[in-house]
Amino acid sequence: MTVYVATKNAGKLLELRAIFGAHGWTLETFAGYAEVEESAGSYAGNAALKARALRAQLLRDGIDGAALGDDSGLEVEALGGRPGVYSARFGGAGVTWPERRRLLLADLAGTGDTARGARFVCALHFIAPGGRETAVESFLEGTIAPEERGVGGFSYDPLFLFEPRGLTFAELSAEEKNEVSHRARAAGALLAALRDAAAADGKPSHAGT
Ligand code: IMP
Repeated sequence: MTVYVATKNAGKLLELRAIFGAHGWTLETFAGYAEVEESAGSYAGNAALKARALRAQLLRDGIDGAALGDDSGLEVEALGGRPGVYSARFGGAGVTWPERRRLLLADLAGTGDTARGARFVCALHFIAPGGRETAVESFLEGTIAPEERGVGGFSYDPLFLFEPRGLTFAELSAEEKNEVSHRARAAGALLAALRDAAAADGKPSHAGT
C-alpha cells in the first residue's frame, strides 16, 4: 500500500522507507506538504498534528490517501529527559549537528552526574484512507557515549550507544539500526495495531506482510 509520510527529514524518511518497505508499504512524500508547527508538547501530539495536516492537504488535492506522521527525540536521564520533544531544535535553530552534539556532551558534563542513561522515543500516527486514526509510541534505551563515534545515521546517532553491540547507532549499518531502533519498534507496534483492528472488523489489514 502507498502511504504518504509527513516528514522532510531525509534521515528519518530513508529509515521509515526501509522499515515499512519490508512489510510491503511504499512510502511517498507529498510535494504539496506544508510542515506544521510542532506545538503539541508531546511526541504523540506532534505526530498527530503532522499526520492530520498532511491528510487534510491530500484531501484538498482530491487524494483519499493514507497519511503517516512521526515525531521522535532523544531523552537523556541526567538532563531530566532533555532534549526530548525539542531534540531537533536543541541549542537553537542555527546550530550545526556537530555543535549540537558537543553542546549535549557539555551539558551532560556540566551536571556532574555520572549517569549516562538515555532513550530514543518514536511516536507514529497513521490515518487510513477513510480517516481512521491509529497511534503508537515506542522507545529504545541506550547510553550516551563519552565522545562521538561513527559516521552513519544522522543527528544524535554518533552519541547513542546501543549496549548489546557496544556500538553507537552511527557505527551500526543502516540495516542493523533499522532492526533494533525506536523507529523499528514503533513501526512494529503500528503494524500489529492495524492487524488487530482489521481482525476485529473482519476486514483485510492495511498492515501488509
Ligand atoms: P522531529 O521528529 O522531526 O521533531 O525530529 C526528531 C529529532 O530527534 C531529530 O532531528 C533528531 O534530533 C532526534 N532523533 C530522532 N530519532 C533519531 C535517530 O534515530 N537518530 C538520531 N537522532 C534522532
